[in-house]
Amino acid sequence: MRTPIIAGNWKMHKTIEEAIDELKKLQPLVKDTTNEVVIYPSFFAVKPCIDTIQGSNISVGVQNMHFEEEGAYTGEVSPKMVGEITRHVLIGHSERRQYYNETDETVNNKMKAAIAHGLCPTLCIGETLEQREAEKTLEIIRTQLGSGLDGFDADKMKDVVIAYEPIWAIGTGKTATKETAQEVHANIRMLLKELFGEETAEKTRILYGGSVKPANIVELMSMDDIDGGLIGGASLKADVFSDIVNFNL
Ligand code: PGA
Repeated sequence: MRTPIIAGNWKMHKTIEEAIDELKKLQPLVKDTTNEVVIYPSFFAVKPCIDTIQGSNISVGVQNMHFEEEGAYTGEVSPKMVGEITRHVLIGHSERRQYYNETDETVNNKMKAAIAHGLCPTLCIGETLEQREAEKTLEIIRTQLGSGLDGFDADKMKDVVIAYEPIWAIGTGKTATKETAQEVHANIRMLLKELFGEETAEKTRILYGGSVKPANIVELMSMDDIDGGLIGGASLKADVFSDIVNFNL
């Protein structure tokens, strides 16, 4: 049985004050869920958010990190620094790949660094519209997953979460149909089985991301290989996000 994860990626939204306010609204609304709930605020808001959620069932993580432990990398945050305050980290979000030149190699370095520092990384993968139209989706997924997890074994996979986020569905209002998403998720699980064996493949949570909202969470979660959601826009308001967290199959 895989416990669903409903994660909110707040991207570059919300000041510290706004983030705390939203979390205070969210806490009572999701207090009864058995799903894991993780919020990824901007760096400045992370520590205040962690202080705010003490004693609640919400976790807080970071949206990115560098792979080096320390050094002359202006503007960056290291895995050691992340590990001082949280275990949750998003790695290789498509916006990082698209706007900040993250490659499969840097993503792999970050994944390795996350595990070396005892963190729980969520590896984000997904194809562009062009790639989907050229019927390259499964090939892209195989490459991104294989290189992102290069050097990993079953033991290192224990704390890893995968997020499949088709780029054409992020922030566009276009969600993959449940069948389209399931096809890719099943394929990811098959690749995990090839790489790490059946047990790891069955245990690994694979989240779907891309215009998830209260209106489509139930149909997505009804699919066998969809184990949760990574939610951007619809995570910004506590009442909307809590409707996703509290979905009923
Ligand atoms: P969206 O973003 O829900 O706004 O499409 C998802 C994501 O980028 O993680």
